Amino acid sequence: MNKISYIKWEPKYSVHVEILDEQHRKLFDIVNDLVDEVEMGSNQLLPIISDLIDYLSVHFKQESIVMMESNYPSFTKHSREHRDFTEKMKAFLQDYEQGDTELGLKMIVFLKEWIFNHTTRLDIEYAHHLQDNAEKLKTPQE
Ligand SMILES: [Fe+2]
Ligand SMILES: [Fe+2]
Repeated sequence: MNKISYIKWEPKYSVHVEILDEQHRKLFDIVNDLVDEVEMGSNQLLPIISDLIDYLSVHFKQESIVMMESNYPSFTKHSREHRDFTEKMKAFLQDYEQGDTELGLKMIVFLKEWIFNHTTRLDIEYAHHLQDNAEKLKTPQE
């Protein structure tokens, strides 16, 4: 039997902001819930899709605050990624409402890649910026 693999959050993906790490772990969990549902052959994906849309909006807002407060130079580019992803999720929701039977698998493929790549690459870039800022504050002023 072909078990669809889970995505696994690891401490090396930490952005060093506890609330954001917590949200990332939760996002990974929701994707894994979707894997379970699809594995069970369930067609009731609406609660998970809604969960994901709601949770992403909370997370993206929180991340925006952190990026803005730290004057992150790639804020606009990063926000565009969040916006495109939100659009994609809404498109999935529409497909669901139109009864796309392959939707679960399509979503898993897309979500695993997007959430994993975004969290472990793009989010890590602002984490580096935050760490650089923290370092600068530590440097004694002349
Ligand atoms: Fe994130
Ligand atoms: Fe992000």
